[in-house]
Amino acid sequence: MRQKMVVGNWKMHGSAEQIQQLLRDVIRGLAGQESTAVGVCPPYPYLPLVKQLCAESDVKVGAQNVSRHESGAFTGEVAAPMLSDLGVDFAIVGHSERRELYGETNDIVAEKFMASQAAGINPILCVGETLSQRDDGETEAVVLAQLQAVIAKAGVEAFGEAALAYEPVWAIGTGKTATPEQAQEVHRLLRGYIAGLSEDIAANLQILYGGSVKDSNAGALFTQADIDGGLVGGASLQAEQFIAICANTEN
Ligand code: PGA
Repeated sequence: MRQKMVVGNWKMHGSAEQIQQLLRDVIRGLAGQESTAVGVCPPYPYLPLVKQLCAESDVKVGAQNVSRHESGAFTGEVAAPMLSDLGVDFAIVGHSERRELYGETNDIVAEKFMASQAAGINPILCVGETLSQRDDGETEAVVLAQLQAVIAKAGVEAFGEAALAYEPVWAIGTGKTATPEQAQEVHRLLRGYIAGLSEDIAANLQILYGGSVKDSNAGALFTQADIDGGLVGGASLQAEQFIAICANTEN
């Protein structure tokens, strides 16, 4: 039985003051919801503060990104061993905003995935198609190519220490959520592809859905057979919404 997981991606939002308030409310609101794994991904500078605030709770702390390099002359980058030093538990790699705005190719994302694992940090690999790719019937080809690029470099066994997130780009921050059926179809495809390589890895792999997840749609999404929780952007900045989304995994 796969454990459900909900991860908040705060993106480039918040201040020390807002984060303290948000986390205090979230941790209080999550009391008694132990069956779901919950994580939050603050902007880099707040990682130590968030680690400290989460120390007495079960909330895990993740990074939104990681360098593919271990160290060196890469101004402005943050290496996986540095995140590891801070006690970071996991890292998002290949978010569509990184792919689109910062030119991260499938190969670069695969390197980030491996750099993260080499430092003992579990990656959450994001895949997803744009609206025009969906309209052109390319959804399957796009998400499989994104997944295959990582499997080609890291091997399928690497997914024993990782999670996957299906995030249709057209649903991110737009208020347009994939229907539970649309999401399940892609989740089943992804799990099926991995099962073709390793039944065991596929059966245990957590595959999260992301893209305008909120309290009102989380229940219908999270009860789909291959959806193991959510990667939540906007709604993770509101304590009540985030707590309610986490509560939707209790079924
Ligand atoms: P959203 O973002 O929930 O605001 O759509 C999701 C994400 O980008 O991970």
